[in-house]
Amino acid sequence: MVCRQLVYTGRSRASMPFLDELIALDPARVRVRPYDEYGFPRTGAELLEYAPAGATVYCCAPATTIANVRRDRPASAAAALHFERFTTPPIAEGVPFEIELQRSNRVLTVPADRTALEVIRDTVPDVAYSCQQGFCGTCRTRVISGEIDHRDRVLTDREHADTMTICVSRARGGRIVLDR
Ligand code: FES
Repeated sequence: MVCRQLVYTGRSRASMPFLDELIALDPARVRVRPYDEYGFPRTGAELLEYAPAGATVYCCAPATTIANVRRDRPASAAAALHFERFTTPPIAEGVPFEIELQRSNRVLTVPADRTALEVIRDTVPDVAYSCQQGFCGTCRTRVISGEIDHRDRVLTDREHADTMTICVSRARGGRIVLDR
C-alpha cells in the first residue's frame, strides 16, 4: 500500500503558500510544522519520524535541514533520500585558479570563494546555466587543458575526461583552458 506523507515547514502558517489547498488534499497525510509553533527543526529525525518503513524521502529545504536529514536518515525507517537545495551549496575547500577562455582570448581569476560560473558571467553574461548545483548539465563546458576537481552529479567518468560543469567544478589550482 502506498502511504505518502508530506511534511511542510515554514516560518508561520501565514507565510506558507498553498497551505489550505495542500491540507485539503488529505488532512491525515499533510503534516504542517510552522517554525513559530514547533521551532526550526533541530534534527532530521523529528521530520523523518513521519516516514513509513522503506520509504523514499524527497527533501527540499534549507541547507541546514538537508544536512540534518542526511545525517539522521540511516537511523530512520526510510530506505532512501533524494534532496534539492533552495540555494547553491557553499564552496568547500576551494583554491584560487585561472581560467583561459580560448575562443574569446580572455584570462580570468577565480578566487577560492567564487565559482567559475560566477566569474565567467562577469564578462560573459549570456553563459547558459540553470541549477547551479551540478545536476542539470546546462553549464557543461569543454575543457581543453588543465586538471579539474569534478564536483557535479551529472557527467559520467568518460565525460569528465574533457568536460566540466562550471557551476560547481573547479581547478585544483594553476590554469585551465576552456573552449569558450
Ligand atoms: S547549471 Fe546545472 S550543472 Fe551547472
